[in-house]
Parts: sequence; C-alpha cells; structure tokens
Amino acid sequence: MTQKVFLQTFGCQMNLADSDEMFNHLRARGAQKAQTPEEADIILVNTCTVREHAEHRAVSFLGRLAKWKKERPGRIIIFAGCAAQRLGNQLKKEFPFLDIVAGAKSMDTFSALLDKSGLFPPAQEVLPPQTEGLTGYVTIMRGCDFRCTYCIVPYVRGGVKCLPHEQILQEAAQKAAQGAKEIMLLGQTVNAYRDGDVSFADLLNRVSQVPGVERVRFMSPHPAYITPDFLAAVRDNPKIAKHIHLPIQSGSTAVLQAMKRGYTREILLEKLAALKACGMTVSTDIIVGFPTETEQDFQDTLTLVDEARFFAAYCFKYSPRQGTPAAQMELLPEQTLEERLDILLNKVRDLSARAYTAQVGTHQQVLMETENKGRTSNNFWVKTTKNYKIGSVVPVEITRADGTLLFAKE
Ligand code: SAH
Ligand code: SF4
Ligand code: F3S
Repeated sequence: MTQKVFLQTFGCQMNLADSDEMFNHLRARGAQKAQTPEEADIILVNTCTVREHAEHRAVSFLGRLAKWKKERPGRIIIFAGCAAQRLGNQLKKEFPFLDIVAGAKSMDTFSALLDKSGLFPPAQEVLPPQTEGLTGYVTIMRGCDFRCTYCIVPYVRGGVKCLPHEQILQEAAQKAAQGAKEIMLLGQTVNAYRDGDVSFADLLNRVSQVPGVERVRFMSPHPAYITPDFLAAVRDNPKIAKHIHLPIQSGSTAVLQAMKRGYTREILLEKLAALKACGMTVSTDIIVGFPTETEQDFQDTLTLVDEARFFAAYCFKYSPRQGTPAAQMELLPEQTLEERLDILLNKVRDLSARAYTAQVGTHQQVLMETENKGRTSNNFWVKTTKNYKIGSVVPVEITRADGTLLFAKE
C-alpha cells in the first residue's frame, strides 16, 4: 500500500527546500503527498530553532502528534531540521513515539537514515524533485562560516559547503522545464557562494541564461559579500531581480561589533547606496534589544532605517540561544524590547506605505503568479485589470497604491 506523507515545515526558505528534498527520498520509496495529517501515514516535521519561540512551536507540534500516532498503528513521525539538530536524541527520551530524528546536518545521509530505520520499502531511482508553482527553489550552499554572537544557525547547520555549479544549473534547468519561471537561489550567506572560478555573480548570470528562466532571485545575502562584480551583474542583467533581502540586524556600529557582523554603519550605508544605484529595492531583518543595545544604539538603527528607506523589514526581539556567546550576556528588560519593537514596527509600516506610493506612475514588468496578480522585479505585488496566463510577463503602468498592493493599467 502506498504511504502518504504530510509535510509540516517551519522556518526559512532553506527549510522549505530541504523538505522538498526529503520528500523526494520518500517519493523514491513509493510515498505520495498527503493534503492533511488525517489522511497521512507519515508526518515529516521540518523545524526551526532560530529564536526560542520557533523551537517551542516545533516541539509543541510534535507533542500534539502523540494522539495522531495512536489513532492508527504503523504511523511514522520524522522530526527533522534545525531544532532536531539542536535537541538531538534528548527528544527520543521525551517523545518515545518519535521514529526518526534527522537533524539539519544530516541532509546528505537522510536516505541512509530511512533505510536504517527499516520502516520503508527500498528506494527506487531518485527522480528529479517536482516543482509546484512559479518559483523553483534551488539550494546552492549549506551552512554558515560566520559566527554572529546571537545566532544558532552555524551550530545546527555547520560550516559552508557550496554545491557544484554544474549540479545547480542542472537543477535550475529541470525546474524551468517543469514550468518554473523564477529561480530562487538559496543559502544562509548565499552571496558567499564560490565553486572554483565560479563566483556568485557568475552563477547568477549563468542561471539567468537557462532556457525558460525569466527571473532570478536569491536569499539570504550577507552585506560583506556585496562586491563590485555582484553589483555589475545586477546592473547589467535584467533577469536578475532588482530586489535584495539584505539582513542588517542593527544600525549601530557598537552593536554590530558586539554581534560580530563584520561591518560598520558607514560600510552598510555605502553598500546600500551602491545597491540603490543599481536600481535595487532593499528589504531587511533587524534585531531589537541585543544585550548591549543602548537607547542611542537603537536611535542609530531608526535613523539608518530612515536613510535606507527599506520597503519592508522583518523585526525581531532578541532571543538568547543556548551555546551562543551572546547568551552569556545580561538581558535587557522585556519591556524595553517590546517598546523598541513597537517603535520600529511603526516606522517600517510607514516606510513601506511610502515605498508603495512612490511606485505610482512607473512602468513595470509583472511576472504573473495568479491570473490577476504578480510581482515586479522590485518585488512589489501588483493587481492587473485583466486576467493573464500564470507565468507570463505583462508590461503595466502603476496607477494606484493601497497598503501593500499596487494596481495597474495594462
Ligand atoms: N543568514 C541570514 C539570516 C539567518 S536567521 C543572515 O545572515 O542574515 C534569520 C534572521 O533571524 C536573522 O537575519 C536575524 O534577524 C534573526 N535572528 C537570528 N538569531 C536571532 C536571535 N537570537 N534572536 C532574534 N533574532 C534572531
Ligand atoms: Fe547566523 Fe550570522 Fe551566519 Fe547569518 S551570517 S546565519 S546571522 S551566523
Ligand atoms: Fe530556522 Fe534553521 Fe532556517 S534555525 S531560520 S530553519 S536555518
């Protein structure tokens, strides 16, 4: 009988791509996707541990599966990803009904783990992963060589390993052949990619030449690798999206140093100006309430946000992660974190509304993601007046902005 697997993915896009990859190994053993946990024989939970709250969500999801497992004999639970890596075998003690723990570092050995469990039929030929939707996600590197003092990612994902560029191009071509119009290249410090002579800029250019690819995006870059050859590629290649999600974390040099981010406020401002000069819009991630953050440091973040005019920002309250250097430091009062988050979120909302309004009157190419909605190269959502084929590129003029949606005339 065919086993049906339900995928529950928490965390970042890297995890989404990993879930696809793990599903593919199950598919090679005859499994199919289930739409709900009720109809599933296998649940694969892919987890995040970047903040305490994320790990808590993953573990409480697992706790709730005790009942699901009891309802039908033979049901299988696989707990994978970053929280699985951090908590490891301790989980099996706490949740004896758990069948397989596959930490984020065990992606390469996932297939062997399945075999070792004896719970699945032997693998047939591993088929290319199937792409659903317009965007094909392609992991180009795993892990991270930075050691930002607040961050758990390097501990649970290990150091950088870049995939061979030939393999990446082949995967992009497969996804494009399956209908992906946009390729999203993924890695924790994606722009640190290098494979022999092939730099990240080279890779962007090569992926953009794959037949069928209309647009190339990437996630998440690090400011340290915003290099002249990368900027040149963005400027000269219209298929590279004119949008970058560049996490800055703080606008204060003192905090950036305490975080060991490897850049100052001034360097950041230079890089942001260079990106803008190439026509890029920038969104970001910011942490408020890092242990050393003074009121003045926080003001520095606010002024930088104003200057940079991010069109979107994910803002997080600092969350101590066990084993990281910053976890040894004394925490700021929770109330301070909340107040700062609130102030920052209000500013970001304002900036976002202004950025959308500033698009009115411009001409854009919209890549349709539904019949009447798509995104510009700058990553703004646009609603069209007529319906189009999903995946087509429609030239429009922006006539109106409403919150975080633009309206177009074609
Ligand atoms: N590799 C990316 C992002 C990794 S994690 C980068 O280097 O920028 C995603 C985001 O989570 C980070 O950008 C950061 O803003 C946030 N984050 C990471 N650790 C955190 C912590 N301990 N507390 C709060 N936010 C954190
Ligand atoms: Fe974490 Fe820093 Fe690495 Fe990003 S660059 S994953 S924030 S250690
Ligand atoms: Fe979370 Fe792991 Fe991604 S900790 S943010 S799922 S790399």
